Parts: sequence; C-alpha cells; structure tokens
Amino acid sequence: MAAPRHGAFHPLTVAAVDRLTDDSVALTLRVPEELREEYRHAPGQHLTLRRTAPEGGAEVRRTYSICSPAPSADGPGPAWLRVGVRLVEGGEFSTFAHKEIVAGDVLDVMVPAGRFVLDPAAAPASGHYAAIVGGSGITPVLSIAASLLAARPDARFCLVRSDRTAASTMFLEEVADLKDRYPARFQLVTVLSREEQESGLPSGRLDEERLAALLPALLPVTEVTGWFLCGPYGLVQGAERTLGSLGVARTRVHEEIFHVEDTPPTVRADAGTAPAHGRVTARLDGRSGTWPVQDGESLLDAVLRNRADAPYACKGGVCGTCRAFVVSGEVRMERNFALEAEETDAGFVLACQSHPVTEEVEIDFDR
Ligand code: FES
Repeated sequence: MAAPRHGAFHPLTVAAVDRLTDDSVALTLRVPEELREEYRHAPGQHLTLRRTAPEGGAEVRRTYSICSPAPSADGPGPAWLRVGVRLVEGGEFSTFAHKEIVAGDVLDVMVPAGRFVLDPAAAPASGHYAAIVGGSGITPVLSIAASLLAARPDARFCLVRSDRTAASTMFLEEVADLKDRYPARFQLVTVLSREEQESGLPSGRLDEERLAALLPALLPVTEVTGWFLCGPYGLVQGAERTLGSLGVARTRVHEEIFHVEDTPPTVRADAGTAPAHGRVTARLDGRSGTWPVQDGESLLDAVLRNRADAPYACKGGVCGTCRAFVVSGEVRMERNFALEAEETDAGFVLACQSHPVTEEVEIDFDR
C-alpha cells in the first residue's frame, strides 16, 4: 500500500456537532473505508481543517487536536475522528464551526500530523505519565490518556487541568468517564481560576508557585515517564520552568502551545543574521524543484508559489505542520513554538518561519 501523502487533504463528512460548553463544540468526522489508513493517527496528533471563504475570499486553515482515542496498531484505521473546537474571539474558522457547520456538511481535512504524541505500544508496561493542561489543551491529552490506559493495563496517568469555570471546561464528561473506568490508574486534579469550588478543591490560577506546591504532593515528579504540557503559552512555559526546578529532565517533557500572541515575551528560535534572498530546493512527496526566494519571503511561501501542496496550517510557528529537514545551506528561523530542541539540533526547521542565510538552501519535507 502507498504511504499516505504528506499534508494531503480529503473531503470528510461531518457526522455530528456536539456542543461541549457555551464556547466550544466537538466535530465528529466520518472516515470512508478507503481512507482509514491515511487517517490512522497517534494519540495527541491534530487535523488541519481548510475552508475557502465564499465569493473568492482567502483560504483559512486551522489546526484542531483529535480527542478520540487512537486505533490500535494491529487493527483497522479509524472509522471516525473527533476534534474539539473552542470559539476564539474574531476567529474566522472557529466562528464558522460554531455558527454554520452542521451534520452532513463536508469539510476539507488534512491527514493527521503533529509530534506531541504518546505511542502506547512504545510505552513501558507500567509507565507513569502526567499532563498539565489549560483550557482546550485538554483535547490531545484526552486522546493520549484514553489510548494509553486502554492499551497498557498497568500504566498510570495523572491529569492536572485548569480552566476558568466548571461551565467553561471542555470534555468534563469524557474525563469523568476515564475516572470511572480507571479509578486506580487515572488521577485527576482540576483547578478553576474564576470559581470557588465546593469540597475544598483548588481554585485560583495554576501558576508556578501553585504547581511547585501541588505536583510533589500528587506524584513522584522525577520518576514520571513522560510529562505532557498543553495550553496557552504562559501556562506551558510556567509548567516547564516548574518541572525543571523540581528536577525533571527536559527530555521527559513534551509541549504543545495553543494561541501564541503576535509578540510573545520570549521566542525559542535561532539567532542569526538578517534574512537574505536566495534559492530553495525542496523535496516534497518524492519530487524536487528549485525556486527563487524573494526578499523577506519565508521558504514555505517560496515553495508554495510553485507547489500548492506544500504542507502548512498556522504559518505562525505554532503547529509544526511545515516541518522540514535542512539538507544543505543555512537558514534563520523567526520563531519556533513547535519543534523540540532535539528536532532543531537534528536539523529540522519550520519552513514558514525560515529564511535563507546562504544563497542556496535545500530542504526536505519528506523526512
Ligand atoms: S505552518 Fe504552522 S508552524 Fe509553520
């Protein structure tokens, strides 16, 4: 069977639109039998949805994490996929999803992507995992926790989640189901920032001070097999610093950031010289081409002018869909909220944020 095409889109029918909270919905997408291998996903991956606005408007792409459990490696690919969509103020796609999408609609959906994943088959049989999530950051972690606990009968998972109020908390029922199904192996702590909870549960912000006090009381932090941090930039950065101060090795921490402001306080990116123009050679789905890069243009935009199938979603350095390997030459990245240090050390970059430093640059989207 041919390998699924990197970044390919297919039309999928919406099977259901479920309202989760006042400002979030879950979309269930039906996967036809002939596409099930293409949509086989690892727990934690996301889908990019694409919409071309009516009357010739610009194309909009948005990335949403899959919340449904992943199929087992030896079974068939998924017959359906579910993603969570939280309404973002002024957000074009999320407003469309909330106001217009109904069951029976057909959406353009990219095959699953993303490296914020936990492969249950590769996890130790009695692995102990933990996640710290804020708001819609629960979405990929729900898939990770459910897939792990189902596949590994001795594994444990601790979820620390924060939201504004109980009414604004996504996937309350699904998380409660995990608690019911795995009472001895699934541990849950919920912190609400704008609500006094009953029965002495924590309230207030899940900041570094609170995490530093909370985590050691919950579990042996340095013995946790893997930490998954997902949510807004500030929460993820604060949790990463806290884990570091508690002695957790950075290699055990996985991060996915939602919603980066235009001018974030710190940027995980290469230092470098001012971007130059040059030429880029890019390999994509086994075919290569060489094209000019105009002044100030990203490598992705230069490739897209010639290969409309180049993979991307956010163009903001957040989703990681445009990851490419630098085969030769040197590039400078503007900002990077998607790649781990091991990936950049190994030579991967975000094409949407990369500009040539050398006259000739060769990148490979297929690695
Ligand atoms: S397209 Fe999202 S990081 Fe480049």
